[in-house]
Amino acid sequence: MFKGAPPAWALRRPKSFWQSLYDLVGAPLRMILLPDHQSERLHLTSLRAERLAAVLPEVRGRLLDIGAGDNMLVRLYREYAREEKHAAARDSVGVDVFDWGGGCTIVGNCQHLPFADGSFDTVSFVACLNHIPEREDALREARRVLRPGGRIVVTMIGRIVGEIGHAVWWYSEDKHRDVQHGEVMGMGARNVEQLLRQAGFGSVTRRGFVYGLNHLFIAWSEEKPMAQEL
Ligand SMILES: C[S@@+](CC[C@H](N)C(=O)[O-])C[C@H]1O[C@@H](n2cnc3c(N)ncnc32)[C@H](O)[C@@H]1O
Repeated sequence: MFKGAPPAWALRRPKSFWQSLYDLVGAPLRMILLPDHQSERLHLTSLRAERLAAVLPEVRGRLLDIGAGDNMLVRLYREYAREEKHAAARDSVGVDVFDWGGGCTIVGNCQHLPFADGSFDTVSFVACLNHIPEREDALREARRVLRPGGRIVVTMIGRIVGEIGHAVWWYSEDKHRDVQHGEVMGMGARNVEQLLRQAGFGSVTRRGFVYGLNHLFIAWSEEKPMAQEL
């Protein structure tokens, strides 16, 4: 479940050698046994801090975070945004169909979002595309609200890792609500890439994090813009 913001040290990248080593030794604790806030109390990098640290540097301009949970990505973006990004960060929004607190806009579904065409520079789906039964339509809707040349940022764990993880993560948010028909516990990287392409996104890039067990995808609403816009 969601409990407070990750400490600043957990979001700093690159990690120090000692933190990396400690995280590796403590992997069973931070990846299986302990909720995020308890890992952080032991100075282990939580899984949530791992994905926030992977996503935050990729956010550009006004952000829409879908499946935002307690809205932590938007809240951290506002806190850490460099001066030139302040106004866009302030106008950024998180949406979710469940209310976990944190000031998200609560929507009935992600097929029809209450935002104008082309009104965001970045749309993110962090650890949630698998939980959204209407994921194909949600990705198309994300493309509609992105400006031309805007980017989508997705993180997703693999299908097998996700199945095993959700069976043992006694603390995860899906244990605190009804699981919807059509939810899956993880998705293969190729499946995510295919869904992005089907929704009309171009130039999908992918990189692994947390020992390659999690993936970060970035795709553009049209062909990848010139280097200076990245
Ligand atoms: C594992 S949590 C991730 C939360 C947050 N993005 C993070 O990284 O901490 C999955 C999120 O997906 C949301 N979710 C579940 N079903 C959804 C749906 N149909 N549409 C949008 N969000 C949904 C849940 O409420 C939850 O906040």
